[in-house]
Order: sequence, then structure tokens, then C-alpha cells
Amino acid sequence: MNTGNVSINQEQGRQFVPPVNINQAKALFRLENLTKVFRSDNVETTALNNINIEIKHGEFVAVMGPSGCGKSTLLNIIGMLDNPTSGSFWFNGEDVAAYSENKLSVIRKQNIGFIFQSFNLIDELTVRENIELALLYHKVSAADRKERAYEVMERMEIAHRANHMPAQLSGGQQQRVAVARAVIAKPHLILADEPTGNLDSHNGQEVMEMLTQLNKQGTTILMVTHSPAHAEYARRDISLFDGEVLAENLKKNRNGTGYEKNLRHVQKLSTGHAEKHQQAKNVFRFEYCRPGNRYGCIPVDRPVYPI
Ligand SMILES: Nc1ncnc2c1ncn2[C@@H]1O[C@H](COP(=O)(O)OP(=O)(O)OP(=O)(O)O)[C@@H](O)[C@H]1O
Ligand SMILES: [Mg+2]
Repeated sequence: MNTGNVSINQEQGRQFVPPVNINQAKALFRLENLTKVFRSDNVETTALNNINIEIKHGEFVAVMGPSGCGKSTLLNIIGMLDNPTSGSFWFNGEDVAAYSENKLSVIRKQNIGFIFQSFNLIDELTVRENIELALLYHKVSAADRKERAYEVMERMEIAHRANHMPAQLSGGQQQRVAVARAVIAKPHLILADEPTGNLDSHNGQEVMEMLTQLNKQGTTILMVTHSPAHAEYARRDISLFDGEVLAENLKKNRNGTGYEKNLRHVQKLSTGHAEKHQQAKNVFRFEYCRPGNRYGCIPVDRPVYPI
């Protein structure tokens, strides 16, 4: 994990690697026939199966789907923290497989804010240091880092815990620190893995408003959520089921009224489609469903998950 073992005083490598120029004319990233298989002794798990997704600059996309369907695996690959087993991942018009570890690291640090499902705060650093860490890879003076950290901590209502260690915080407070760290540098891309999963409705809404504000300023956001209300903030849903894209759905118009068309229908589910089709029906709500037709399901407006 790229956040481990980093000291607040270290800025190693930054001055030696040129920043990556983001080409706004191209899709920010594209996944082509991407598959991820985890293999351990006797067990093989296909976490992602032949995924094809393109995300353009400035999009706000919600990723939804039941537990274990591959959402975090998808974010880890897009965040360049994990490699696909097959298929390709294009970032900024280039195949990431050709990138060195060093270049991947620069892209991550300079362009991506990651809100991890399990927070991944650095235990040895205080709340403020954890948050400021994201600014170390940008040219920001120590005084400005501190000022910006306090701004975002106040917004997240954790400024009174600035000098606490992560272990001294509640789960919700840790999540707010993780959100603050991801947004402070106003990155090109925010990958948010259930960023409101541990928050009460007030703090959850504040996080969503902050993400929306950043999105309006140009940040591309890909957010995993189980909350239909929070998915409302996104303009596009991607529904995953069993490692496959079940459907993509464009949602509100820019002015917030009405719904645009479904972007694409359910994909052909690769294997055992009749059985998966039935399982999917138990998880997603459909406008219509033609039994036996493997292309036939369209979510009404958004998926509904069992609690
Ligand atoms: N490191 C790993 N080694 C082996 N299997 C893994 C690993 N990481 C994930 N998996 C498996 O891949 C599948 C997808 O996992 P993933 O964490 O992406 O699901 P998820 O959709 O994020 O679930 P949740 O909503 O519970 O967070 C699961 O079956 C999981 O057990
Ligand atoms: Mg997950």
C-alpha cells in the first residue's frame, strides 16, 4: 500500500520525477476486457470478469453492488495499487502496464486522492500530519499546509482532534480524517470506497457536499456506495454483480431534473447466465426483465440492496 511507512518530513523522489501532464481531451481512464483473479493455495476467486469501463474527465460516477462483487478490487486497480490479471487499463491515453513503479507512484501522489474502505491512516502520525501528507507531493509551504489542513479539518469537524493519533479516534472520526486527506490537495481524481459508510447522516451529507463541490471544480470522482441517497449525487451509476458490469445508467440531467437514457443495457453475463440472472433479480430492481434473455435487464433508476 502506498501510504505505508511515510514520514511527514520526507519528500524523497519528488524533485527528480517530472509531473504527469493530464490530457483533458482524452478519457481519464479506460478499462478494456479487464479481469482480476485472486489465487491462493487451492482457491481461485474471479473478483473482476471482463470489465469494460471508460470514465471521462469531470465525471461523478457511483459504483454499486452487493458485498464481494468486486468494487474495492476495481478501485484498487484504477488507483494503480493492484494489477489486473488480464486485459488493459489506460490512464490519460496510455497503457499503464508500460509504466514503471516510479511513474505509477508519481501519478498516484500527484493526481489521485484515495478514500480507503478501511481508512489506511498512518498510525504513527497525528490527524493533522496524516492530512498534510497529501500536500507533501505538491509545492505547498509548511505554513500553507497547516492552514489548509485546519480548513478541511474544520469542515469535517475534526479540528479538535488535530493532535490525536488515529488509534484514539472513533471509526467515524477516522473516516473523516481519511476523507480530509483525500480532498485536501484537490486531486484530479478521487477514488472513494464507501466514504460515508461509518458516518451519521449529518457528516455523510457534508462529505457528499464536499465531493460535489470538488467535482464542480473539475475533480473526477468514482465513489463506491451502498447508499442510494448518496448515489443520487453522482451522474452515472455502474452496477457490478459477481465481478461483472451489470448495467450503466446515466442519471440526472445537469440541471437536476428528470433522467437521461440508460447508457447501456445489462452485459451478457459470462457464465451460468440464467442462474446469475435470477440472482441479480434478487438484488436489483428492474424496469422489465425478459426471462431467458441474457441482455434483458435494466435497473429502474438505481439498485436496491438488501440491508
Ligand atoms: N487479496 C485478496 N485475495 C483473495 N481474494 C480476494 C482478495 N481481495 C478480494 N478478494 C475477493 O474478491 C472478491 C471481491 O472483493 P472486493 O473486496 O472487491 O468486494 P467488494 O465489492 O468491495 O465488497 P464489500 O462491499 O464487502 O466491500 C471477493 O470474493 C473477495 O473475497
Ligand atoms: Mg469493498
